[in-house]
Amino acid sequence: MTTKAFVIGHPIAHSKSPLIHEYWLKALEIDGSYEAIDVLPDDLGRFFERMRQGAFIGGNVTIPHKQTALQFCDTVAEVARRIGAINTVQVQDGQIHGSNTDMIGFLANLDGKAPDWDTQKRTCMVLGAGGAARAVLVALHDRGFENIYVLNRTLETAQRLCAELKGPFHAHALADFAKLAAECTLLVNTTSIGMHGTAFAGLDLSKLPASALVTDIVYTPLQTPLLRAATAIGLQTVDGLGMLLHQAVPGFEGWFGQRPRITPDLRALVEKAIAP
Ligand code: ATR
Repeated sequence: MTTKAFVIGHPIAHSKSPLIHEYWLKALEIDGSYEAIDVLPDDLGRFFERMRQGAFIGGNVTIPHKQTALQFCDTVAEVARRIGAINTVQVQDGQIHGSNTDMIGFLANLDGKAPDWDTQKRTCMVLGAGGAARAVLVALHDRGFENIYVLNRTLETAQRLCAELKGPFHAHALADFAKLAAECTLLVNTTSIGMHGTAFAGLDLSKLPASALVTDIVYTPLQTPLLRAATAIGLQTVDGLGMLLHQAVPGFEGWFGQRPRITPDLRALVEKAIAP
């Protein structure tokens, strides 16, 4: 019988996950499917019940369900609990297990594209304190960063998140960028700014050390205005597409039983799909 997996979100039409998983299903000649399903927040519990009854082997959970879906799981991986969000579920013996592979995706992308990115492991800066910041912050803490500045438009949101996640996190307003940048060997954007070409106003990247790495989890466009500005002054950058590809690997392996590979072909396929 065909093994069925999904990605649920609302909206979901923009998701590139079906492209990735269908590529792997075909490449590995697996009798499986992976479909995008629009699920409204009010229908999430019912969807999980369908899953529990065997409609799917599992799938991915995306915006706006990553945090609320955690409560519908029967078991939750320790790291997902720390992050406070799940992005992957798997059904086993009628039980739904939730996990979070965004952290693995974020780290694997940087490890692959900039192998020395965490050798200094001291101070870094994360822009944004929304859902997407959670996995990134826990990842940076786990990799041994001693000082993690969390800058957000709304200071209270950053303060709340820093207190909740517990670690070397320090909340600041975006206006503190210039004051803090000189200490930071890594800058990560987790806000939605950059999506479809929008840009940060008044972020002077020249305040960062010349050795700093700048990365963005936004991948539409691949070269966000932030990454372009960093490249223009000679800073090293890593785009966010690798995070999307790497976070998909453990889910696929769990559902379909084979570990898929991120090939240049796959990356090119997704790059083409996100090109303007
Ligand atoms: P996600 O779950 O994708 O992270 P989110 O929870 O809505 O989405 O968070 C979006 C993040 O982008 C937040 O940090 C938000 O800042 P606020 O907490 O102040 O809302 C940030 N963000 C979105 N639009 C922004 C803008 N125009 N300027 C600055 N920050 C912005």
